[in-house]
Amino acid sequence: MSRIAYVNGEFLPLEEARVSILDRGFLFADGIYEVSAVLAGRLVDNEAHLARLARSVGEIALPLPETLERIEKIQKELIARNVLVEGVVYLQVTRGAADRDFAFPKDVKPSLIMFTQVKSIVDSPAAQNGIAVKTLPDIRWARRDIKSVALLAQVLAKQAAAEAGCQEAWMVEDGLVTEGGSSTVFIVTPDDVIVTRPNSNAILPGCTRKALLALAAERQIRIEERAFSVEEALNAKEAFITSASSFLQPVVMIDGTPVGGGKPGPLVKRLREIYIDFARTTSQ
Ligand code: PDD
Repeated sequence: MSRIAYVNGEFLPLEEARVSILDRGFLFADGIYEVSAVLAGRLVDNEAHLARLARSVGEIALPLPETLERIEKIQKELIARNVLVEGVVYLQVTRGAADRDFAFPKDVKPSLIMFTQVKSIVDSPAAQNGIAVKTLPDIRWARRDIKSVALLAQVLAKQAAAEAGCQEAWMVEDGLVTEGGSSTVFIVTPDDVIVTRPNSNAILPGCTRKALLALAAERQIRIEERAFSVEEALNAKEAFITSASSFLQPVVMIDGTPVGGGKPGPLVKRLREIYIDFARTTSQ
């Protein structure tokens, strides 16, 4: 069976799903995206992703071509049409197709596209064994809180990480870790405090981050929202990343040096179970 994609009102086989070469997403990366996890055929924490979508498009004055309610209906229809059990739904809104001109075009309908990808999120070797990360300078723009499709800096960072045998890049600015190439970063201090950078223009406000911090707080696990250095991470008891497409993954190696004994630690394992339970019980 061919995968089915959604393009501007139509459900089509992926091979037939097309947008114009004049689409501003293609020419200028003038667009916003979201990635929501699917578990047992249901969307995980999708309300948070749609709220962030609304915020991101608002920050770049891009009108959504459909309401959030309708977007969620399309996501669900796409999951059903693809019989997706576990994986992600990707959605992208761009400022539409128009003759190339930097300023916004007038009277152009924004494009909305979606597709699904199969992925084992719960039973993944990376979650069991942990991942290695490579640190790199953060060369991105100053509005990283907007989930823009302009991802070249992350593409280059993640490629450099992959070439070094690592599964994620950790980006560093002014001596402090900002975030992963496509994830939020966390460490656990020797006295079991979870440390993660506060939300600001320097990072994407992660939906998984938000849910996890709330779940941890409910369980009286201590949290400190502050930036940390690579050196502090190297001396941490545990380290991990979060994202919609991986939930939580332990980080066991940074630039070739083992962290937390080079094995996933107890708090990360516990947090992962807590998040998976949340995902299973609240997905819809
Ligand atoms: N990336 N930081 C960055 C730069 C990201 O790209 C992502 C997600 C996150 C985590 O956000 P969330 O928990 O809401 O997924 C943090 C998605 C998964 C991607 O680009 O594929």
